[in-house]
Amino acid sequence: MTKNKKAHQKEDGFWKNSIAKFKSVDLEYEFYNPSKALTYCAISDLIREFLGRKASIIEFGCGSGLLLCYLYKNGLSVIGYDNSSYAIKYAKLLQKSKNIKYRLRKTNVFYMKIMKKYDAVISSGVIEHFNKNLQIRFIEKMKKCSKKYLFIMYPNINSQIYKRFIKKQKKIYPLEKEKFNVNIPFMFKKLNIRLVEKRSFGLFDKESIKNNKLLNNKDKKIIINVLDKKSTKTEFKRAHYLELKLSNKVKSGFLNLYIGEVLAN
Ligand SMILES: C[S@@+](CC[C@H](N)C(=O)[O-])C[C@H]1O[C@@H](n2cnc3c(N)ncnc32)[C@H](O)[C@@H]1O
Repeated sequence: MTKNKKAHQKEDGFWKNSIAKFKSVDLEYEFYNPSKALTYCAISDLIREFLGRKASIIEFGCGSGLLLCYLYKNGLSVIGYDNSSYAIKYAKLLQKSKNIKYRLRKTNVFYMKIMKKYDAVISSGVIEHFNKNLQIRFIEKMKKCSKKYLFIMYPNINSQIYKRFIKKQKKIYPLEKEKFNVNIPFMFKKLNIRLVEKRSFGLFDKESIKNNKLLNNKDKKIIINVLDKKSTKTEFKRAHYLELKLSNKVKSGFLNLYIGEVLAN
């Protein structure tokens, strides 16, 4: 079996299991995986602030489409591409649970034809799975699809939150074998993309909250309620507002986020 086919089967298997797990708990996603929901709500707010309400967005490797759900709710026009039919199934399940609908397509982005450009091309948790050559090709494809901006997110493997997460998952630290190092500033420069901003998201687990000097005790309690799946809607809102507010102050979150501006295509 080729390496690509193996990776593809692994993705399908992952999403198949994730669908079964999500279906079995019958919870809103915000109570199912609160820290991811919190992070993606905050990122979605940043993207809306940055692009304005009416912008069009395509996500490469959208997986469950969680981020697209929040962007859609924030009023943006969105579409998600993923190479795994099971990821698309999960995204449809999530759409149904949230009573929303945006377009989804099963596509390998490396081979897709570009019919249209979008205000921004976004991607989260995908690029680190590719080797250096594919990373460049991936950003090149994002660039070709974008009228102006790219948003690229991937795990910050040096952060304590990432390390604790991996340990909890009983995975082998520091890296799952198929993950690669990512150097966005270098690749942006090579591809004539201006690095507009770098931020850090995925700021909160219980340990990081304890040590956070920028949060008062009341806000700490609110975030802990969210992580403990006990929060009200207002507390959840406050928590992702705080994550967005701190995303350019705290550097040690789970996710790196880079914003690039396409200078020439
Ligand atoms: C780790 S998941 C991240 C999913 C989602 N973006 C998130 O943040 O939860 C990576 C996703 O990228 C998709 N993917 C990998 N290579 C791809 C490609 N060449 N074209 C489209 N999707 C791809 C996988 O199927 C998988 O769903």
